[in-house]
Amino acid sequence: DAGEHDSFMHKEMLEQPAAAERVLRGRLDDRFGTAHLGGLNMDARETRAIRRVKILGCGSAYYVGQMGAALVEELARIPADAEAASEFRYRNPIIEPDTLYVAVSQSGETIDTLLAVQEIRRKGGRVIGLVNVVGSAIARECDGGIYLHAGPEVAVASTKALTNMFLGFALLALQLGRVRDLSIADGRRLIAGLNRLPEQIQQVLDQEDALAGLAGRLAEADSLFFVGRVRGYPVAREGAQKFKEISYRHAEAYQTSELKHGPLALISPEVPTVAVVPSDELTDRNVGALHEIAARRGPLVVVTHEDVDLGGLDVDRVVVPRNERELDPILLTIPLQLLAYHAALSLGHDIDKPRNLAKSVTVE
Ligand code: BG6
Repeated sequence: DAGEHDSFMHKEMLEQPAAAERVLRGRLDDRFGTAHLGGLNMDARETRAIRRVKILGCGSAYYVGQMGAALVEELARIPADAEAASEFRYRNPIIEPDTLYVAVSQSGETIDTLLAVQEIRRKGGRVIGLVNVVGSAIARECDGGIYLHAGPEVAVASTKALTNMFLGFALLALQLGRVRDLSIADGRRLIAGLNRLPEQIQQVLDQEDALAGLAGRLAEADSLFFVGRVRGYPVAREGAQKFKEISYRHAEAYQTSELKHGPLALISPEVPTVAVVPSDELTDRNVGALHEIAARRGPLVVVTHEDVDLGGLDVDRVVVPRNERELDPILLTIPLQLLAYHAALSLGHDIDKPRNLAKSVTVE
């Protein structure tokens, strides 16, 4: 049972620092600035021959797949993208021999992801799995993989498994990068960053009380936006997904850069925006968009870093610790879990078993 926690989701969120340590344990090699992933079943020559990475998953696994694609592109400079497995398998996909396919799934039983894996393998493609449940259907069907070691996850809304998926992608991207052009110094920089993450995740979890207060106010709105761009956009998508899954509020994710091409028309004092604004090369542009929202009197919650200057905007600010910029997305994701959880709690919803949803969808 969930012990002293009111729900499994709460228990699982708080387990994230320990879960993160487990997925990293024994896989980081500081001497060569790389990761060791024996379960991939690929030697260096095969790893070097990869020309593209295609990531497949459903729901949160799909959104974290988008974060993973960015990690692969940034660290390994291999073109990468993520697609909903449920769509991929119905469009007669072109399977290429030099593409590495990656199936992402907590349960390892999601039917859409499983059937995508089977379709790829039937056509001769190579698939690895990022899977939590050992011996599950997807784990068995793949050519190799990375087990996530998050421990059992009961709540429908994925938290610790999702965090470990991100870390699994970081390990994969590091290994792919180090057989290519990623320098040993950059490899070591990322390893140091990965080793800092469990403690930094704890620092975000320690802000729970402040986030609960913000969530209670967000829960009063019927409709919200979650915005971010580039690295921050999949974070916004995942944040919106969590919020709608358990609070049943309409939460729409959008690229901050696209607001002016449509949704700005919907911004008003009744429609809050949760904005993901890391300290990076896009900060100034992001802050500019926040001013557009503020000018329409849209309430703002900004998830950001200490050094970001919001130019005197009157907003609720949530500050997360900085890591290496490539690894920041997971730290930006944690407060969005707490916002969704506390919004649902304040509304009196069943946190672990939201209406109409199942933990894993295993039949078509
Ligand atoms: C959905 C759940 O049905 O399955 C999501 O509601 C989850 O929360 C998705 O992310 C994928 O599940 P899995 O087990 O393949 O990661």
